[in-house]
Amino acid sequence: MTVLAQLPALAMPLPADIRGFTLAPSAASPRLLQLTITRDVVAAFLKAVAEWPVQALEYKSMLRFRVAKILDDLCDNTLQPVLVNTLVDRATGGFQVVPEGLDSVEQADDMVKVATAVAHLMGRSNYDAMSGQYFARFVVKNVDSSDSYLRQPHRVMELHNDGTFVEQDTDYVLMMKIDEQHMEGGNSLLLHLDDWEGLERFYHHPLARREMRWTAPPSKNVGKDIYHAVFDVDASGLPIMAYIDQFVQPKNFEEGNWLTDLSESLENSPAILSVPNPVGSFLLINNHFWLHGRDRFTPHPELRRELMRQRGYFTHAKTLRKPRQV
Ligand SMILES: [Fe+2]
Repeated sequence: MTVLAQLPALAMPLPADIRGFTLAPSAASPRLLQLTITRDVVAAFLKAVAEWPVQALEYKSMLRFRVAKILDDLCDNTLQPVLVNTLVDRATGGFQVVPEGLDSVEQADDMVKVATAVAHLMGRSNYDAMSGQYFARFVVKNVDSSDSYLRQPHRVMELHNDGTFVEQDTDYVLMMKIDEQHMEGGNSLLLHLDDWEGLERFYHHPLARREMRWTAPPSKNVGKDIYHAVFDVDASGLPIMAYIDQFVQPKNFEEGNWLTDLSESLENSPAILSVPNPVGSFLLINNHFWLHGRDRFTPHPELRRELMRQRGYFTHAKTLRKPRQV
């Protein structure tokens, strides 16, 4: 329980002990906690929710919360407080969740159910305009013709926050690996704002709080531009970011060059974590003070990777001072 010991003011009382899962600092960083759901709990959960195919979770939003409750009940209600509190804990705010026994693409629907349950213990996943559902599954192959770097394999996807060009709050990001074939490289890249040596320099710059325009490419199915600054402060006055290099539209020379300096500082930070995320596992991070990206892969003609994402807002605790929109 030592990893839970330094949590600040709690949104929910923490259990004296945890059941059905284990918690430990990840190999990558003590800021990223590894939460392993035991094989027995995963199996019991899948049996208990077998009556609902993924389509039922898509059609009936309320069932996402019911599967969440079933998972938490199997953990003697010790999972929910850990998720609620840790995701807003500035010192950590991130998990790698490993559901034991889920490790093959044939179990993709089961993976979606487990991830949905975990997410809906502390939040609600937003509508994803790319898929038209509350989650999106997408495939990365050797060749890609899309209009952003999301599915282009042979280059780095730069560090960014999600939700920068939508109006809903994007408090958390969940990124699950569903399949991986002939993959070399391609680790998830993560950077906690408080580990970035450039934070003071950029956060205190006059452009840090200037509203900028954010726009999405056609594939994102987002119709209108939105305006916000790169930096804001959270509910306790600490810096948070809403930034992505591809979709910000600087209005002039000054903004364009400041943003490029910012991008270079982020990409060159020695504090970037490179995290392998095995099939069946997912990363779950606070999107306001963790940036994420993806390392390049080695080309291979049969390369295939399938991912599932969910982004949403917190339902119990808050990082933002005031919601943008719920
Ligand atoms: Fe992203």
